[in-house]
Amino acid sequence: MRKSVIVGNWKMNKTPTEASELLDQISKLDLDREVEAGVCTPAIDLLLAKDKLSETNVNFGAQNMYFEESGAFTGEISPTMLQDIGASYVILGHSERREYFHEDDELINKKVLSALDHDLTPILCCGETLEEREAEKHEEKVRGQIEADLEGISNEDIEKVIIAYEPIWAIGTGKTASSDDADSMCGYIRSIIADKFGEEYAQKVRIQYGGSVKPNNVVELMGKENIDGALVGGASLKAEDFESLVNYNK
Ligand code: 13P
Repeated sequence: MRKSVIVGNWKMNKTPTEASELLDQISKLDLDREVEAGVCTPAIDLLLAKDKLSETNVNFGAQNMYFEESGAFTGEISPTMLQDIGASYVILGHSERREYFHEDDELINKKVLSALDHDLTPILCCGETLEEREAEKHEEKVRGQIEADLEGISNEDIEKVIIAYEPIWAIGTGKTASSDDADSMCGYIRSIIADKFGEEYAQKVRIQYGGSVKPNNVVELMGKENIDGALVGGASLKAEDFESLVNYNK
């Protein structure tokens, strides 16, 4: 049985002052303990998350990291830094990083391997553009990303990876993929994992959907066979919406 996992991706939102307030609110929520919950904050808010969520079941993580442990890499944060503060997750290969910061699959693969080496759970994002979807190239695009980003990962480690299917045309647009389309792509991603690592391992990997997930569509999405969770942007920035998302079963 795969445990559902709902994670907020705050993106570049919340100053430390604002983050402190939101984390205080999140720490007081009555959340379903059957669901794994987490927030991935901007790097500058991570120590606040560590402090304010310490007595809760809400995990925290980063939205990016470099693959090296330390050194002359101005502006980057390392896996050892994240490990040192007790971060659970690191989002890797988000479409915004691929697009605006030119991250390619080779770099993302190094980051995934490094995260696993440091006991961090990578939340590996993949997904197609609208043009690729309209040209029916979405499966090919996602297969290419997943195969390249998971190169060299052992069977033992694959079950620690969370994959987030985020069609780019659904991110921040209010347009959610239909729950059937989202389910079918998450199922397709599971079949890619099965091809690479075997069916037994594929059944253990958790696959999230992301893209305009809101309290009013989370129940339908989470009801689908291949969708094990959600990676949520905008709706994770309000404590009451985050509560409704994590408590989708209640
Ligand atoms: P929205 O939920 O704001 O569409 O963002 C989705 C996303 O990119 C999460 O990583």
